[in-house]
Amino acid sequence: MTFAPSCVLVTGGAGFIGSNFIRWILGHQPGVDLINLDLLTYAGNLESLEDLAGRYYFIRADVRDFDTLSRVLHGAGTETATGKTTGRPLPTPDCVVHMAAESHVDRSIMGPAPFVDTNVRGTLALLEACRGELTPRGRPFRFLQISTDEVYGSLGPADPAFTEATPLAPNSPYSASKAGADLLVRSYVETFEFPALITRCSNNYGPYQFPEKLVPLMITRALADQSLPVYGDGLNVRDWLHVEDHASAVWEVLTRGRLGEVYNIGGGAELPNLAVVRALLSILGKPESLIRYVTDRPGHDRRYAMNTEKIARELAWRPRHQFRPGLEETVRWYVAHRRWWERVLSEAYRATNALYLEGDVIL
Ligand code: NAD
Ligand code: TYD
Repeated sequence: MTFAPSCVLVTGGAGFIGSNFIRWILGHQPGVDLINLDLLTYAGNLESLEDLAGRYYFIRADVRDFDTLSRVLHGAGTETATGKTTGRPLPTPDCVVHMAAESHVDRSIMGPAPFVDTNVRGTLALLEACRGELTPRGRPFRFLQISTDEVYGSLGPADPAFTEATPLAPNSPYSASKAGADLLVRSYVETFEFPALITRCSNNYGPYQFPEKLVPLMITRALADQSLPVYGDGLNVRDWLHVEDHASAVWEVLTRGRLGEVYNIGGGAELPNLAVVRALLSILGKPESLIRYVTDRPGHDRRYAMNTEKIARELAWRPRHQFRPGLEETVRWYVAHRRWWERVLSEAYRATNALYLEGDVIL
């Protein structure tokens, strides 16, 4: 049976995938209200949502803040006034798409604690707030946990791709914290008959990605003729999923997925990092001499690959974007939106970021 949401609460909607998901929903599902709940850490940026029109609301809040979450889920929340939004009462959500997270593996190696705090404790607070709201009401509701292929661990070159039945074997503090969150979601399904689903996707690329991840880091550095740091031998393999394909897959799972199930989402584009970096250089017309091999990331997963037969079979979802044209379009976006990424790389922005990393929540 199709679930037809009237109001989606997206956590982490000011981040890369969240902002693209919100833009996709407002463009493709115009009858749906959308609440973006985001703390605005270094990775959250309201400038990524500036062009939006439609039934969109924003609240600045922490997914670890049970009381605020409960108020919002109850329909008693108030929008945070910004330049674009005015402090209106929030509509009542009938589903949650949980994307808020600390998301960068290298940061998790430098400091694991915020990852456990946001990704595990934050997911627990959100699950508890949803459960508290659901129990007295018994209304139709769905919770979608956005997870990652990284929870499955690492593959050798000849191993079959990850399926939804692959045991979890995370190797970084980031992926361990995501696996912890997934297991909490699973336990709520089993113990409380909680109406949740989990999606696990591969590496996303596209506009509005913070320039710490491979694709935007390499584009922005190459544009400035800076060296491109390739970890190890550059032959680690990732599967690349266009962020708009991810958005459409999330919508399909949210509205038509079977409760309690996990769905893998992949782009069908497995490539070694070096091939991605070389493709970027050729699109930009920059020389390969910019490539610098640097010390490998500790615990660096060698290969991820997704078996996506389940979502194709059950929900008829397939990625639409081919990798090379998708990458060309992404490069064009970064060239045309220099102001966006120069600002997030600026001194002022980094000062806030440093504060945040020291544990100060900037409210
Ligand atoms: P991102 O780092 O770009 O954005 C994360 C967002 O969460 C930011 O807007 C940030 O402000 C917000 N946030 C962080 N802590 C918060 C808190 N305590 N309360 C409220 N908001 C908070 O991340 P992304 O790349 O957009 O990833 C989104 C989700 O998708 C994450 O759950 C991530 O694990 C998952 N994922 C990402 C990828 C990828 O390739 N980027 C791949 C697989 C899965
Ligand atoms: P990243 O974008 O951090 O995503 P993830 O680690 O979650 O897959 O990295 C993608 C791949 O690129 C990964 O194998 C690490 C590698 N990489 C580099 O070689 N150099 C870099 O500067 C970065 C950020 C990543």
